[in-house]
Amino acid sequence: MLGSVTLRIAFIAAECEPWAKTGGLADVVDALARAVGEVAGGAVHRPIDVFLPRYRGIEVPADAPRRRLGVPDPFGSNGWTSLAVVDVPGNGYRLRLIDHPPAFDRDGYYGDANGDYPDNAWRFGLFGRAALEVLRGEDPPVDVLHVHDWHTGPVLLARDGDLRDDPVIGRAAALLTVHNLAYHGWTPADRLGQLGRSPGDGLIPSDADGLDLLRTGIERSELVNTVSPGFAAEALTPAYGMGLDSALLAKGDQFFGILNGLDTDLWDPATDRVIAARYDRGDRSGKALARRDLLRRVGFDPADGSPVLAMIGRLDPQKGFDLLADAAPTLLDRDVRLVVLGSGTSADVGSLRALGVARPDRLALLERFDRDLARRVYAGADGFLMPSRFEPCGTGQMIALRYGTPPIVRATGGLRDTVIDASVSPETGTGFTFDDASPEALLEACRRFLDWFSPEPGADGPAAGGRRAGGRRTADGRRTARWEALVDRGMAVDFDWRTHSAPAYLAAYRRAIAIRRAT
Ligand code: GLC
Repeated sequence: MLGSVTLRIAFIAAECEPWAKTGGLADVVDALARAVGEVAGGAVHRPIDVFLPRYRGIEVPADAPRRRLGVPDPFGSNGWTSLAVVDVPGNGYRLRLIDHPPAFDRDGYYGDANGDYPDNAWRFGLFGRAALEVLRGEDPPVDVLHVHDWHTGPVLLARDGDLRDDPVIGRAAALLTVHNLAYHGWTPADRLGQLGRSPGDGLIPSDADGLDLLRTGIERSELVNTVSPGFAAEALTPAYGMGLDSALLAKGDQFFGILNGLDTDLWDPATDRVIAARYDRGDRSGKALARRDLLRRVGFDPADGSPVLAMIGRLDPQKGFDLLADAAPTLLDRDVRLVVLGSGTSADVGSLRALGVARPDRLALLERFDRDLARRVYAGADGFLMPSRFEPCGTGQMIALRYGTPPIVRATGGLRDTVIDASVSPETGTGFTFDDASPEALLEACRRFLDWFSPEPGADGPAAGGRRAGGRRTADGRRTARWEALVDRGMAVDFDWRTHSAPAYLAAYRRAIAIRRAT
């Protein structure tokens, strides 16, 4: 019966591309909201709502509808604060910005040079409560709150707290998508007041020394998913569970993985206006131009034929920049060129920096967030590195595959689910994988990559990977046929959100509603 009614879905998230992004969360919120609307047809009320804080710098059209509302706020006058919601038509959904400058008109989304903001519980508490306040007065009533990561733990506290008996919010089901298990939004007991809560108040145990907002979301959501089946399995183990493995285990089959998709319209070398030349599976000649352009832009010799390996990511310990830093001297000695584009500040790139200064013709380290350069790197590199310590899904490897740049990844989480190792499966492989989070294992995978990319001249035996005709070059004398086939297979993988992921989320929404209504 549920299958035939029109569902109203609201996303509540701390990031959404292109308005606010530090990582993959932003891409997923944007692309998934759109894809769900597209595949659902009449099954979902449209537009889908996406709630986002109005951070500094988010411009809104002067005529965007704006409405003021009052929400409970422990620090507001008489316990209330007035803030605004601004509705902006998005590209396939309705963006709903919660506008409250004291909370969100700041240098960073989560913190500044001094670290996380000490009042984050208040900021995201207000955000979540405001989103629910907007929804509770609207028709049709919201059916599913699709919340993301720890920032939206307060949404569940409000639903199950002061809005428990609200006729709209009280019946709404929650699906929590965990993109990052490392950030918990830990709120010590002396800051619980920021959420208007205290130990022993009915929602917080009386002996609590604080609150883990991600755990709160996990425990209170009807369903919890993470962004790949591989990571969902890993997250149940102490090694990857970040202290939440038993909370996830306790969910039983109400915790599972749904592999992220990729926005294949946004990431398409055939239509990408930023890269130097466009190309597709049928004609990849543009990739050579994109390569020259990249080399020139990062200060290398554009005509250099040496293999170019690239890495892009947040400078976060998760991403394994330290493994690359340790492996880099050996790679440079093997005549590899390295292009590293890192954003944010939280990981140490120490030795990479020195190496870049010492060998500017071989290593380009660009420490900034640069959307356009990222596209040029995906298109221009020969291989793409993702030595992540853990990776719930990862976006870079999917983009790299689509741009004809075989990924070299650690076989963990979503990386293991999306990249097939060509050394193990030469006929179906799309990249190269390694198991240990060590520079040696990374180097070993790079060696296999190099054997495929540029086998020793004339080699078609063991040096080329031991496969028949492995080292034989194609007509232009540069690459081997098996390399060309590897690239082609990667470009052919269908990561479109609409194919698998969005339908899986639709099914999860229905299931979450059924669970909520049964309780
Ligand atoms: C986080 C995860 C990454 C995932 C992304 C989107 O950034 O670290 O693996 O792809 O969220 O779900």
